[in-house]
Amino acid sequence: MNPHHHGRSTPECPAFSDRTPLYGAALARDPSHLYEESRRRYGAVAPVEIAPGIGAWLVLGHQEVLELIWDERAFSSDARHWNALGRAVLPAEPPLLPLLGPRPALLRLDGQEHRRQRQAVTQALNLIDTRRLRTLVRLRADALVDGWAARGAADLIGDYARPLTWGVFTQLVGLPEEAGGQLATLVGDLVDGSDEATREATRSEAELLSLLRQLTTGKRATPGPDLPSWLLAHPARLSDDEITHNLLAVLLTGPESTISWIGNTVRQLLRDAGLGAALAAGRVTVGELADRALWSDAPVPNIAGRWARADTAFAGRSVRAGDLLIPCLAAANTDPALQSAAASGSRAHLAWGTGAHGCPAKDVARTLVETAVDAMLRRQPEVHLGVPENALPWRPSLWCGAPARLPVVFPAFPPAAPTASAAPATYAAVTVMPVPDRSPGDRAVAGMPPQRWGWWNSMAGW
Ligand code: HEM
Repeated sequence: MNPHHHGRSTPECPAFSDRTPLYGAALARDPSHLYEESRRRYGAVAPVEIAPGIGAWLVLGHQEVLELIWDERAFSSDARHWNALGRAVLPAEPPLLPLLGPRPALLRLDGQEHRRQRQAVTQALNLIDTRRLRTLVRLRADALVDGWAARGAADLIGDYARPLTWGVFTQLVGLPEEAGGQLATLVGDLVDGSDEATREATRSEAELLSLLRQLTTGKRATPGPDLPSWLLAHPARLSDDEITHNLLAVLLTGPESTISWIGNTVRQLLRDAGLGAALAAGRVTVGELADRALWSDAPVPNIAGRWARADTAFAGRSVRAGDLLIPCLAAANTDPALQSAAASGSRAHLAWGTGAHGCPAKDVARTLVETAVDAMLRRQPEVHLGVPENALPWRPSLWCGAPARLPVVFPAFPPAAPTASAAPATYAAVTVMPVPDRSPGDRAVAGMPPQRWGWWNSMAGW
C-alpha cells in the first residue's frame, strides 16, 4: 500500500504526521538548531515537511549523505521519479516545482545524459579566466564600497555581496548590466521560501526561461564572451531548450551560494576579533577563513533533491519508491563524528556536494569570494557587526545558508577619488571569457568533425 494514495501514513514514511516543518517561520532564523534537534530525535535520517503537506527525508549523517549521493543506482537526481508529482499532495501550481521539479538540465539528470550536458557546462565554465575575473571583481567591489564608505554603516549582503555577484553573473551570461536586478529578483523567487516569493515562483520561472531563451537565440546570431555562446559552440550539441535550462541551472546554483559564502566568510571575522588581528598579521589568509566557513556554515545547506528509484531500506528507514530525500550538507559537516576533521583544517567537508553532480565551479566561486572579501577588507579592515549575531534575519530558504542581511558599522572613510571604474562600459571591457571564433550556427551542420573537440579543448589554454 502506498500511503501517499490514501492520505494515511506510517512512521516510516515522510508523510508521517510527526515531521519537522522546514518552511515559513522555521526558516526565519538560522535553522542549524533544527538540524541538531532532528539528529537528536531521529538519528541520521529525519522525516520533515518542506512545504505544507509535502514530506521528505532529511539526511543528516555525513556517512549517510555520502551513501545517498554516491549510490546513483538506488537514488536518482531526476525529479520525474518524485511520487508527489501529479498527486493531490502538490497544489495546482506548486511553489517548489521550479526548484525541485523535472528540468532538462544537468542538475536534474542522471547517467549518460547528465554527463553530456555536464561536460558542456563544465568546459564552458573552465574557460573563465580567473585572473581577469579577479580584476573585474576588484573593479566592481571598489565602486560598491565607494557607495557606502562615507556612511559608516552598510549591509554587506544587500549593499555588497549581492550586487557584486549578480553583476558578475549578468556579464557571464551575456546580459546587459541593467538586467542584473531583474535576474536577482526572479531567481530569488525560486530559491526563497517566503510567502511572497513562493507565490511568484511559477511566474518568475516562466519569465526567466523566456529571457534566457531569447538570450540563447540572440547569441546564436551574435556570439559574445559569455557562457551561452560557448554552450552553443560546444560539440555536445545542446538544443536551445537544453541551453536555456542549463543557463537557468547555473543561475540557480551559482550566484546565491556565492553570496552566502561571501557573507559567511565575513561573519567569521565579525564573530571573532582575534581572527581580524590574525588576518592583519598574516597568520591566517582570507582563503583559510573561506574554507572554515565551508565547514561551519555551508553556503548550500541542503541539496535540492535525490529520489528513491524503488522501495528500499536506507539508514534504518523504509523509503518508498519516489520519496524525496534531501542531503543536508550543513548537518553532515557538523556531524559529531567529524569534528576532528573540521578542526584539522581538512577539506573533507561536503559543502561542494560530491560525486557526479559535485560543484563544477569551485575555482570560479573561490576566486569570486576571496577577491570580494579581500577587496572589502583592504578598503576597510575595521568592520563590526551592527546587530547582535542572534538577531540576524535569516534568508528564508532551505537552499541558501546565510543571513538575509549583514549590517555592519565601521569608521566612515572617504570614497576613493572618482574614476570611471563605476561605469558599466568599464566592466564590459573586462571580458573574462574569449568569444567563440566560429559562428555557433556551424554546429547545425550534421556530422560535426571530430577535430572540433580538439579545437574546443585548445581554447582551455586561452
Ligand atoms: C561561480 C559560482 C558557481 C557556479 C557557476 C556553480 C555551478 C554549479 C552547477 C552548474 C552545479 C550542478 C552540477 C551538476 O548537477 O552536475 C552545481 C552543483 C553544486 N554546487 Fe555549485 N556553483 C557555484 C558556486 C557554488 C558555491 C559557492 C557552493 C557552495 C560552497 C556550491 C555548491 C554546490 C553544490 C553543493 C552542488 C551539488 C548539487 C547536487 O549534488 O545536486 N556551488 N554548481
